[in-house]
Amino acid sequence: MRSLIVGNWKMNGLSGALAEAASIDTLAGELPGVEVGLAPPFTLLSPMAAMVHHLSVGGQDCHEASHGAHTGRISAAMLAESGARFVILGHSECRAEGDDDARVRAKVDAALGAGLSVILCVGETARQREAGEAKSAVVGQLAAALPQGEGSAERLTIAYEPVWAIGAGQTPAQDEVEAMHRAIRSSLVAHYGEAGRLVRILYGGSVSASNVEALVANAMVNGVLVGGASLTAESFGAILRSIAGSGRAD
Ligand code: 13P
Repeated sequence: MRSLIVGNWKMNGLSGALAEAASIDTLAGELPGVEVGLAPPFTLLSPMAAMVHHLSVGGQDCHEASHGAHTGRISAAMLAESGARFVILGHSECRAEGDDDARVRAKVDAALGAGLSVILCVGETARQREAGEAKSAVVGQLAAALPQGEGSAERLTIAYEPVWAIGAGQTPAQDEVEAMHRAIRSSLVAHYGEAGRLVRILYGGSVSASNVEALVANAMVNGVLVGGASLTAESFGAILRSIAGSGRAD
């Protein structure tokens, strides 16, 4: 399974940042063994999609409705028309602002319906972790949001992002990442049968050039979702090179 490395720019990047995307795209072309995606803010989606050749561009969220009176929101079809191939859904920052499991599920259906692939984020909070509820929280989020039908598995990626690790400069221990990725894989296989084995499971949360090699050394980790370190070609490029050189690329 080819490693997937996706940069989530969150609410960062004015038009000057397109130069970073151009450099990242060039590097992605030099590293064919890895698959690269970038999720810029909505305002950069169209120009970035028109510019890149070697990476896919995606959105960071979408509304569950196809259109209507939803001021400030973006539909899945609007993302697709702007050049997005995928959309990140269920990110903990969106869950913290009100997305519950039912809404995440509705967004997943809307995105798949618009022809997008989905990166579905799951992850426990620090409180759930301390209470020993990390696995049940993550498996519960999956059970609530996984779309039906084997066909949907083909356009699905899961990102395990422990909420407490995001932007915190700390990551779980290797064996904790492995155990969670195993639990996620079991849920996927229970839900989709054999097709569930082909869904990529990424790790996200404080991924950097200095820890990525150890993270992807684990065969259960099929790539990474990167926030802060994806904002420049220098830091994201170091991550791409590290994975491409790690033996985890095809
Ligand atoms: P950081 O890499 O900045 O911790 O962010 C991770 C994340 O939330 C990616 O979606």
